[in-house]
Amino acid sequence: MYCKRIRVRDFRNIECEEIEFSEGVNVVSGENAQGKTNLLEAIYYVSVGKSFRATQNSEIIRFGTKRAVVELDFDDGIREQTIKMTVFKEKKRQAEKNGVKIEKLSDIVGCFRTVLFCPEHLSLVKDGPALRRNYLDIAISRARPMYLHALQKHNYILKQRNLLIKNALNDRKTFDTTVDLWSEQLAHAAAIITKFRAEFIKKVDFHVKECFAEMSGERENPSISYKSSSKLYEEELFDLEKLEKQFTKLLRENHDREIYAGATLYGAHKDDMEVLLNSQEARFFASQGQQRSLAIALKLAEGEICYSEFSDYPVFLFDDVLSELDAKRRDYLINRIKGKQVIMTTCDKNEIREAKKISVSDGKYTED
Ligand SMILES: Nc1ncnc2c1ncn2[C@@H]1O[C@H](COP(=O)(O)OP(=O)(O)OP(=O)(O)O)[C@@H](O)[C@H]1O
Ligand SMILES: [Mg+2]
Repeated sequence: MYCKRIRVRDFRNIECEEIEFSEGVNVVSGENAQGKTNLLEAIYYVSVGKSFRATQNSEIIRFGTKRAVVELDFDDGIREQTIKMTVFKEKKRQAEKNGVKIEKLSDIVGCFRTVLFCPEHLSLVKDGPALRRNYLDIAISRARPMYLHALQKHNYILKQRNLLIKNALNDRKTFDTTVDLWSEQLAHAAAIITKFRAEFIKKVDFHVKECFAEMSGERENPSISYKSSSKLYEEELFDLEKLEKQFTKLLRENHDREIYAGATLYGAHKDDMEVLLNSQEARFFASQGQQRSLAIALKLAEGEICYSEFSDYPVFLFDDVLSELDAKRRDYLINRIKGKQVIMTTCDKNEIREAKKISVSDGKYTED
């Protein structure tokens, strides 16, 4: 995957710019608040169909204007393609692929594959499980439409089943008779999600271990594993039939506990990806630099797994990735990204020598 150029209009503080990228490392540098992250946000927008930091689409429209346009030319290894997205203040956004209007956004999402690291991703290691589940959901859905389908179904059934529990709690103290039907469907979807997640995490664990072995020698041993909240044994995690059976059993036999808790207690919605460093939970015991290294390693792993699925690396978007890393870790990362396309932001453009350098000032980009 190679992002050739981007044309941006009225996106954040970018008025009207066309920027060309090299196939290797591209460094976007400038002082604070000039538009470094805004450029990565525009590229990411075309890849995923949403921003990684705006809560509302209209936030990305430049102040005082009515719509933002991002048009990106990329080479997917077979041919050159163009995706164009227009975001309006007061009407539905529009998407085009190679000049043809696309009604369903899901038809373009994933065509242009990226892996993003931004400082907020430190929460992947530091914070609670929701963000880690989100990391898994995005990364797995990219290559497995069946996973996304199961996930949407799981979330819908969960809502319905939780309503039944609320009703039982409020008036009858017993479940509606339809509960077994919902439970069966939930067990089926949860089994698919759990199996895919467990397989993905096994690969992540392999890549993160490899990354740490090269970056910090033998001193730091990471371990990434699946943490199920549904009393599952390691060997059950990879077996759809066993998983479905176990979920069905748990959902059938614990009605009283669920009514007492007021929610569904078993399924894939409470699971987590455990991140350990030297056998200790990284979110409590790892240093800032170690947490950052782990978050970056998770992102590099995502890139490797994407490569194994598509025989092609995604474009790496790295926002402020080098800060807080010591010289050895920086060197490792810079070496590691050689040969792949990377678009990274930094305040100090001299940090990386062999790269295309782009300077930004007040939303205007110039090649050095
Ligand atoms: N909708 C918008 N319209 C116009 N300007 C905006 C909009 N949203 C954000 N900005 C401006 O964009 C600038 C921030 O850009 P950006 O986040 O890309 O900075 P940066 O170069 O990454 O800075 P830092 O080094 O601090 O991370 C801010 O000055 C902000 O006011
Ligand atoms: Mg920034």
